[in-house]
Amino acid sequence: MYRKAFIDLYLKDGFIFEDAKNEIDFVLETLFNYTYKDFLLGKTLSQNQIAKTEKIIKERIKTRRPIQQITGQAFFYNRRFLVNESTLIPRPETELLVSEVLKLSQNIENPKILDIGTGSGCIPITLCLENSKITAHSVDILSSAIETAKKNALLHNVYEKIRFFKSDLFENIEEKYDIIVSNPPYIPLKEKENLQVEVKDFDPPEALFTNDEYGIEYYEKIITESHDYLSDNGYLAFELGVNQCKLVEKILKANKYRNINIIKDFNNINRVIISRK
Ligand SMILES: C[S@@+](CC[C@H](N)C(=O)[O-])C[C@H]1O[C@@H](n2cnc3c(N)ncnc32)[C@H](O)[C@@H]1O
Repeated sequence: MYRKAFIDLYLKDGFIFEDAKNEIDFVLETLFNYTYKDFLLGKTLSQNQIAKTEKIIKERIKTRRPIQQITGQAFFYNRRFLVNESTLIPRPETELLVSEVLKLSQNIENPKILDIGTGSGCIPITLCLENSKITAHSVDILSSAIETAKKNALLHNVYEKIRFFKSDLFENIEEKYDIIVSNPPYIPLKEKENLQVEVKDFDPPEALFTNDEYGIEYYEKIITESHDYLSDNGYLAFELGVNQCKLVEKILKANKYRNINIIKDFNNINRVIISRK
């Protein structure tokens, strides 16, 4: 009943039905642990809960701030992560990167992983939860993101397995790793105006933009420096933006990386690239 009233609030402001429905289900689950099925089975909301939900929806519609930032939570790999204006909201595409890194980790005895640009910490935390043998180091240029990632590690009981610290790419890295993983910024700044308001005005700019023409400057920097930080036969695993696969593949080959493997996402886009030292 109130679900329909909430959906109407969104529709009045030009949102499409599917998005409205998904966001409302997200809010009700995040705030009250209610799923759509609970409502079908007759669960109801109190006046307080209705007022709280309405307030959130109204803020969302008025400001266009992403619903995950308003509620302070996002789902990744079916788990909750704290997010805020310092952390990218984890994207479903990144789950593919994680599942591919997990496959690589199966063949390594005690995998030691470096995550560059950790944001909310969703990548190393999920890796540690899915494979108990993994330990990780995780860096970001933003201290505020690192603080959030640490909280997420505590929340998921893997704080002892991951060391989070500030580093501009490899600047403060002194060890070698079996796998280096990164979902780096990959949107050329000149494309900013084509992005949705939710992304361009609310995701942290440090998480999104590059200053070069094709959005590959971080891949280039990481690839050219990575040899010194990878163990023999170590892996490098990246998430890719649209149309970047060929360019990144070329840089990998020029830097003597081998066994290059490209994995497509659910939209048939080349989304993950893995290679070996
Ligand atoms: C696309 S976001 C990825 C965040 C998170 N790993 C995820 O997948 O949701 C890129 C991250 O790289 C960080 N970053 C940007 N420049 C960096 C640099 N020079 N060194 C380290 N991290 C950097 C940003 O702050 C941001 O957290």
